[in-house]
Order: sequence, then C-alpha cells, then structure tokens
Amino acid sequence: MNTNTWDLGGRVAVVTGAARGIGAATAALLRERGASVVATDRSESVDDLAGDGVATLVGDVADEDTARAATKLAVDRFGGLDILVNNAGRTLNKPITETTVADFDSILAVNARGNFVQAREAFRIMEARGGGAIVSVASISSVVAFATQTAYAASKGAIAQITRVLAIEGGPKGIRANAVLPGVVDTDVMEGVVENGREMLAGFGDAHPIGRIGRPEEIAETIAFLASDAASFVTGALVAVDGGWTAQ
Ligand SMILES: NC(=O)c1ccc[n+]([C@@H]2O[C@H](COP(=O)([O-])OP(=O)(O)OC[C@H]3O[C@@H](n4cnc5c(N)ncnc54)[C@H](O)[C@@H]3O)[C@@H](O)[C@H]2O)c1
Repeated sequence: MNTNTWDLGGRVAVVTGAARGIGAATAALLRERGASVVATDRSESVDDLAGDGVATLVGDVADEDTARAATKLAVDRFGGLDILVNNAGRTLNKPITETTVADFDSILAVNARGNFVQAREAFRIMEARGGGAIVSVASISSVVAFATQTAYAASKGAIAQITRVLAIEGGPKGIRANAVLPGVVDTDVMEGVVENGREMLAGFGDAHPIGRIGRPEEIAETIAFLASDAASFVTGALVAVDGGWTAQ
C-alpha cells in the first residue's frame, strides 16, 4: 500500500496555462509526483511539453470548447480526470478611467469564465467518478485591493468565490476545491502589459515580509499539496502563498 499521501501516482491532471510560469512549474511537479498530465495553453509552445505521461492541447481557456477538449483528452488518453489546476490567466494594470469595456470583458472572459467552464467540465467527470481535486490559481488580489486592477481584481475575486461554491457543491461528492493566492511571482505575466515587467515584479520584493518575490516552483508545491490526499480535509480554502504579504 502506498502510504505517501503526497504521491500522485495513477492520478490524471489537467493544468491550464501550462506553457510557462506557474503552470509549467506545476505541470512538471505533478508529473514528477507521478500524475499523468494534460497541459493546455493558448500558446503553441505548450506542445514542447508533450512526452511520456504528458499530452498537450492548444486552445483559449475562455472558450468552453477548449475545456471540453481538455477533459476529453484526459479521459481518452489517460482514462479519467482526478485533478484540475485552473491556472491560465492574464493581467491588466490600468486606471479605471482608462479601462474600456472591452478590457474588462476580456480579462473576465479569460480569468473568470475560463475558470468556470474548465471547472464545470472537470466537475462533471469527477462527479461521475466519485471525487477529485480542483485547485485554482487566484491571487492576493482576490482579497486585497491594488490601484489599477479593477478588471483583474474582479476576476480574481470571482475565482475565490467560485472555489468556495465548488467546495460546498463538491463536498458530498468527494470533490475538493481550493485556491492558492500567490504574492508577486517571478514570471513573464507582465509581458505586453508594461515595459520591463520582470524587473518591475522584482521591485516588489521588499513588500513581502520574506523580503523577495516568489518563484513559480514555490506556488507549484502548494498546488501539488492541495491536489494530493495529504490535503484530504482541506476544501473551500484560499491559501495565501505570498511571503506574508496579506498578513500585514
Ligand atoms: N506572476 C505573478 O506575480 C502572479 C501573482 C498572482 C497570481 N498570478 C496568477 O498565476 C497564473 C499564472 O500566471 P504566471 O505568472 O505564470 O503568468 P505567465 O504569463 O507566465 O503564464 C500564464 C500562461 O497562461 C497562458 N494563457 C493566458 N491567457 C490564456 C488563454 N486565454 N487561454 C489559454 N492560455 C492562456 C499564457 O499563454 C501563459 O502560458 C495566472 O492566473 C496569474 O493571474 C500570478
């Protein structure tokens, strides 16, 4: 009998936004812990991850057909779906007076609707199988406010509440749902949003009591824990992985 509750051997996971950053680190860690992984992204570079135990899919997470195709791929290729990591997301930093309806709708479509449609498709399969674990990548912006983030904060607040609802609906069905709330993490998330985005993110180090920004692998560790049986009594939780930011 396998008594290592962190082990994910035999599990099947879908990870969205897996081409780079937190999603790529998570897909790699889940695979390392034994899970088969369906890695999805709108970027075709996600196909570079394809290999033993990893299938890939290119698609826009805001499109429900992508969610259907990802869950179908998990079932067809690996025999089911046990874990969903709802990670794909975009950011936007604009004062409210400059934020257009198109800006607002496009951020909500990717971050909130994308989270919903992928969770719904996973939930259907997990319900039929008698259980599963959904982990969403929200943000400290789900619970604290920053200037210039009306659209992003609204979308991440939505993910926090979707997570809690799924925990309540999923509890009797053996489905757990949790969210991680990363602080600032060293990724390319600001690419195309501001110039020198990575340097800008690094400048937030001192705002975290730990004195630095996070690494994608540190977020992946908490996601892998929440996806595993080690977290069997954890559901509906918004887990800060933020170097202490929201403790302030
Ligand atoms: N980096 C941070 O400081 C930070 C902090 C808090 C939360 N987050 C959240 O973490 C998640 C991952 O971000 P990251 O920092 O790794 O950023 P990233 O930009 O490096 O990675 C995001 C990935 O999602 C994909 N993606 C974006 N829009 C998509 C769409 N419509 N359809 C499919 N794929 C799409 C991108 O192609 C990319 O591969 C996001 O939800 C982000 O909001 C990041």
